Amino acid sequence: MAQERWTQVDDYLAGALIPSDAALDAAVRAGVDAGMPQIQVSPTQGRFLYLLARVLGARKILELGTLAGYSTIWMARALPPGGRLITLEVDPNHAEVARSSFRLARLDSMIEVRVGAALESLPGLAAEGAGPFDLVFIDADKENIPEYVAWALRMSHSGTVIVVDNIVRHGAVVDTTSPDANVRGVRRMFELLASEPRLEATAIQTVGVKGYDGFAMIRVTS
Ligand code: SAH
Ligand code: DHB
Ligand code: MG
Repeated sequence: MAQERWTQVDDYLAGALIPSDAALDAAVRAGVDAGMPQIQVSPTQGRFLYLLARVLGARKILELGTLAGYSTIWMARALPPGGRLITLEVDPNHAEVARSSFRLARLDSMIEVRVGAALESLPGLAAEGAGPFDLVFIDADKENIPEYVAWALRMSHSGTVIVVDNIVRHGAVVDTTSPDANVRGVRRMFELLASEPRLEATAIQTVGVKGYDGFAMIRVTS
């Protein structure tokens, strides 16, 4: 019952607030056709990422976990002319499908997809001075979330915002003895946040078409 209601409300909110968008619809369809798991952010969450980038006036955005490029397109739409978004994806097929969706959306000149495990790509990005990023969206594997936050911090400036998806996972996050690597990764992130004075953060539980989950929002203070 709850899930059905959450989905109805999400559909209502998206219908009321979000204009239909051929490029976003096509990106989802391309992911379905390619057999990708349908785990992209929901429309209202995508719109949230877009609005956040707008509010920040973001010119440089980093994403970890591209999938079909749905969240990527949302955030890239917020960039001013000359803005850039780099998105890291381990699966070359996901990356290729996403690249064609970026071409269709006419966003390909702003978006760079780097293929490889994010932990392998991040040192190179830092070494070539790709940052500092104004907004970082962490949405790849969950085991390495704390390492991703640490890399994001290294490539940030005062005021950079880091958003981390999927930090509640149907409530599993409170299981202190969970053997699940995803849960352990999220819990290690909260330990890092508690011990890192340069980061101020909150975490918000969410319900909706994707079930019961949540996101963390982190601001780099200095
Ligand atoms: N941000 C997307 C959803 C990402 S799903 C959206 O909301 O539209 C998670 C993605 O992370 C998948 O495509 C998966 O292949 C990728 N991924 C998993 N492990 C990774 C890793 N170690 N490095 C980079 N990407 C990874
Ligand atoms: C999963 C990953 C995600 O990024 C998400 O938003 C939902 C689910 C998953 O791996 O199951
Ligand atoms: Mg996610």
